[in-house]
Amino acid sequence: MIYNNLNLIDLNDYPVSWWEKLLSLAHKIISDPGAYSKACEGKIMGTLFYEPSTRTQMSFQTAMLRLGGTIIGFDNPATSSVAKGENLKDTTKIVSEYADVVVMRHPVAGSVKAAALNTECPVINAGDGGHLHPTQTLTDLLTLKEEKGHLDNMTIGFCGDLKNGRTVHSLIKAMSCYQGNSFVLISTPELSLPTYIKDILNAGGHKFTEVTDLDKAIDQLDVLYMTRIQRERFSSEEEYEKQKGCYILDNKKMSHAKQDLVVLHPLPRVDEIAVEVDDDPRAMYFKQAKYGMYIRMALILTIIEGSDKPAPLITGCEHIHHKCSNPNCIVHRETYLPHYFRGEGTTLECEYCDERTLVE
Ligand code: CP
Repeated sequence: MIYNNLNLIDLNDYPVSWWEKLLSLAHKIISDPGAYSKACEGKIMGTLFYEPSTRTQMSFQTAMLRLGGTIIGFDNPATSSVAKGENLKDTTKIVSEYADVVVMRHPVAGSVKAAALNTECPVINAGDGGHLHPTQTLTDLLTLKEEKGHLDNMTIGFCGDLKNGRTVHSLIKAMSCYQGNSFVLISTPELSLPTYIKDILNAGGHKFTEVTDLDKAIDQLDVLYMTRIQRERFSSEEEYEKQKGCYILDNKKMSHAKQDLVVLHPLPRVDEIAVEVDDDPRAMYFKQAKYGMYIRMALILTIIEGSDKPAPLITGCEHIHHKCSNPNCIVHRETYLPHYFRGEGTTLECEYCDERTLVE
């Protein structure tokens, strides 16, 4: 096992009780934000965004400023020494010497865990490729807790790009920790949920169905989580064009939904929710983005305070003769990284991107 700082790489590294502590702190901050305005005075947060972002980056920055702290960082690696060829390890290690906490988004799966191996301060995953986005999941959990009042016994529909949607992967993993939730996975066969997430659902005995038609599924849902078809994750423009516009939520579809449906979307949207739906009281996605700021305030405060036990960073061990089979895993870009895997025998699970690799 390797432990270092109180990082947040994958929400499932921590028990549900820890998430609930954050939700409860966020609730207190919402009720009395002024009481926390100096909670991080003198502290510095580094935001390293190797990939574009509006909500995650600015909500983290606003969260730290509202806690009385300050921020450094970049939102475009081209304006940093990354443009001169600096590797991930060197950039993140240096910034972690300057800051008290580092928030990082990167286009490659497993990159944030890879960075956390060498940093001096805690690292928060703000999205690593198509892999995970734990603070979006905390945002989604807070939205559901505040708006629905509970996180269990719901039928939750996920619609769109379930293959590449890291927010979907993280939220399904989180909601499968609560009793009585069932899942309706609405996508084309090409954009269906990765097998490793379905394995988690199967292993936990959770009910899920896979369907292609949003119209036929919408009336059974308590929550509908819409997602964007992630153009930047396709191998070619031609492949993207085949999937573009395949799901569009509009007022006609909403007319078949439950009156207490909550529609979420991590945003940004392209065309998957018609603008006419914005005025429907069940459309919760703009409010959801604001909840994101409060939960990030709670997270920064908890991590800076540092009184909780860190989750282990690596639970497996190094296999020098094996390489992760996922071509989008960080180990293929940052070739100095040790090849850490969980498990043994013929199936190894990559510690960085969670992909399963079959070995001889
Ligand atoms: N939801 C989300 O991650 O949005 P951004 O890409 O704008 O940060």
